[in-house]
Amino acid sequence: MLNVKQVFELSLKLGMAADPRGATAIKKSLERAKRNYADLPAHEKEYFDQTRLTNPYLDSSVLVDDGCKEVKRVLVGIDVGVGEILLASQLSERGKKIDLVIGHHPLGRNLAYLDEAMELQAEVHQRHGIPIHLAEKILEERTREVSRGLHSLNHYQAVNIAQLLQVNLMNTHTTTDNLVDGFIHNFLKAEQPETVGELMKALLKIPEYQEAKRLGTGPKIFAGSPQHRIGKFLLEMTGGTNPSSKVYEQFSRAGISTVIGMHIREQSMETVNTHHLNVIVAGHISSDSLGMNLFLDELEKKGIEIVPCGGLIRVSRVKKK
Ligand SMILES: [Fe+2]
Repeated sequence: MLNVKQVFELSLKLGMAADPRGATAIKKSLERAKRNYADLPAHEKEYFDQTRLTNPYLDSSVLVDDGCKEVKRVLVGIDVGVGEILLASQLSERGKKIDLVIGHHPLGRNLAYLDEAMELQAEVHQRHGIPIHLAEKILEERTREVSRGLHSLNHYQAVNIAQLLQVNLMNTHTTTDNLVDGFIHNFLKAEQPETVGELMKALLKIPEYQEAKRLGTGPKIFAGSPQHRIGKFLLEMTGGTNPSSKVYEQFSRAGISTVIGMHIREQSMETVNTHHLNVIVAGHISSDSLGMNLFLDELEKKGIEIVPCGGLIRVSRVKKK
């Protein structure tokens, strides 16, 4: 039996265990947050978001919680907006009680802080051989750009509806993107594809990508050819959003030949091609679905019913008795 807070804590626990930076880096990140809080002047302390002290992913948290003690049925979407929240309320009225709505992409404060979830990219890039001064400075520029873009949005529109209708709401973004990252990492370690073509075939063993292909958005080669060797590869499955275009030159210099991601910005394609990288886009909504599914399976094991909507390609890996 899980309440709303415990459902989120489960996602947080799984996401932290799969964080590509490793446990020590997460511990350090939380310690930095504690020091930052302690150093704040009194008049700034009231604005400090206390969830920062225990949650290293500022783009994921509970947004509405009416104190529901037992979550039995959840409505889950990759994108949850006003429509899905109204749908939850209508389903509840029609006797299909929805105890909690879970979105993947950030809403409310989690959207306002999306840029902060990009923090993990610098350490991941460093692990791939990019000097930290380059990784950090390139990331800093891009993070500021993302932050400026987010600032003007109407972050709370959907959250306000959920508050008025008393629909419990949360989103799990980087927590579940970490799960895709870990899953694909282990999957490719087992599959050992040598060429881009073999990689494409391997990805199509994953049901979420099979379904995406049926729906018109299967894995795609954005740069490179099937006969090209993969060489050293880097996964871009987590870390808030796409990195700076400038980082692709550094990837190539660090000896990376192939980038496997969820999506890539159009403006990065020129840099990618100038530096002769292979780019395989596994798929956005399908990859997001894979990460959500790995978390949702843990809810399913606890007897919670999952109602998919909002683009979620629901695949259960729970062994049926
Ligand atoms: Fe996404």
